[in-house]
Amino acid sequence: MHEVRIGIIGGGLMGREIAAGFARWCALTDVTVRPVLTAVADLNPAALNWFEGIPSCTLRTTDYHELINHPNVDVVYAAVPHNLHEQVYCDTLAAGKDLLAEKPFGLDLAAARNILEAVRRSGRFVRCSSEMPFFPGAQRAVEYARSGALGRVLEVVSGFHHSSDLDPHKAANWKRLSAVCGAGGVLNDLGMHACHVPLRLGWRPERVFAQLQKGYPRRPDGRGGQAECDTWDNALLHCWTQIGGEAVPLRMEMKRLAPGATNTWFLEILGTDGGVRFSTAEPKTLWQFERQKEQWWKRTELGFGTPFKVVTGGIFEPGFPDVIQQMWAAYLMERAGQLEGRFGCATPEEAVASHEIFAAALQSHSTGSVVAVAG
Ligand SMILES: NC(=O)c1ccc[n+]([C@@H]2O[C@H](COP(=O)([O-])OP(=O)(O)OC[C@H]3O[C@@H](n4cnc5c(N)ncnc54)[C@H](O)[C@@H]3O)[C@@H](O)[C@H]2O)c1
Repeated sequence: MHEVRIGIIGGGLMGREIAAGFARWCALTDVTVRPVLTAVADLNPAALNWFEGIPSCTLRTTDYHELINHPNVDVVYAAVPHNLHEQVYCDTLAAGKDLLAEKPFGLDLAAARNILEAVRRSGRFVRCSSEMPFFPGAQRAVEYARSGALGRVLEVVSGFHHSSDLDPHKAANWKRLSAVCGAGGVLNDLGMHACHVPLRLGWRPERVFAQLQKGYPRRPDGRGGQAECDTWDNALLHCWTQIGGEAVPLRMEMKRLAPGATNTWFLEILGTDGGVRFSTAEPKTLWQFERQKEQWWKRTELGFGTPFKVVTGGIFEPGFPDVIQQMWAAYLMERAGQLEGRFGCATPEEAVASHEIFAAALQSHSTGSVVAVAG
């Protein structure tokens, strides 16, 4: 097994999740590459303490420059607030390291394009994090869409919902501040998740009409005071795309105010002959539509049919930590030239395309008009 040494910048929610995914790498049975966490950088020394439990992670630093310049790091995973993406990603590439970048790949479209230029200049292997399409149900939906069974595609819905902003007492964090999260707000936060599969299927939105909504303007700041929260919380993007030479409605939904939803990613594709639905709210369930003399929605209980094989029993159900691990397997195997037709991580070009959609959506909302998507 070939070892790849990983350094994590940002040891918060996602930094720890990824480190935990590496720690159970032995679950994977058909990969030739193994990530070894060698370094972590976080401004907050308390965040670094958790990494003391990982023996291979010998460099724990508050200065990410030390990590990117360390010879014991081959690949950097960066999970920092959005206003730092451009600087941290470009510095990582300039230091000669490969990168799995967190979404949204920069604060806005200009930042994403600058990062893409840096990627091309550097020649490094770079992908953008988006793990939900690695759910077995999502993989089956993609295969189904590619099979031709849909007939003429009538409409597509792709979205990501959660509801944690419904609670007015929840303390604000940087994701609720435009200066740090970006003017896109929820578009930056959840948008890549909704864009990844449509973009991968070649269903790029050409025009968009967007409806954006804000949440509570103030929240507790966690220190006894109040923080101003100015980001968009919900976004509905009504788009036109081209599929099979026809204009097709494509709706993307990103919500932090979705009653009842925790972390729900979903995809529905309807055609004249067939259809498919998958939601992580029912992680084992795939719905497929069939039209013959009668019409049916067939419900299949899926097992653990992940792109990369695992020791986990085939009848068991997958979850978030599993798809994080699958995404990393895809990143490392593609980097090693061994993806072999399996679903790959979001590319830098797809990440920029998602920002082109967000920029058009922001313009559409502010002008109340339909806006052409650049690119
Ligand atoms: N793929 C997903 O499902 C998913 C889920 C959540 C968040 N994210 C993305 O991951 C990224 C991080 O989000 P999070 O939820 O982990 O945030 P977080 O706030 O939990 O963690 C961010 C960490 O970065 C550290 N940090 C800030 N400035 C730094 C600097 N200059 N150098 C080093 N460390 C620094 C903070 O101290 C913090 O520990 C964001 O881009 C976010 O959009 C992705």
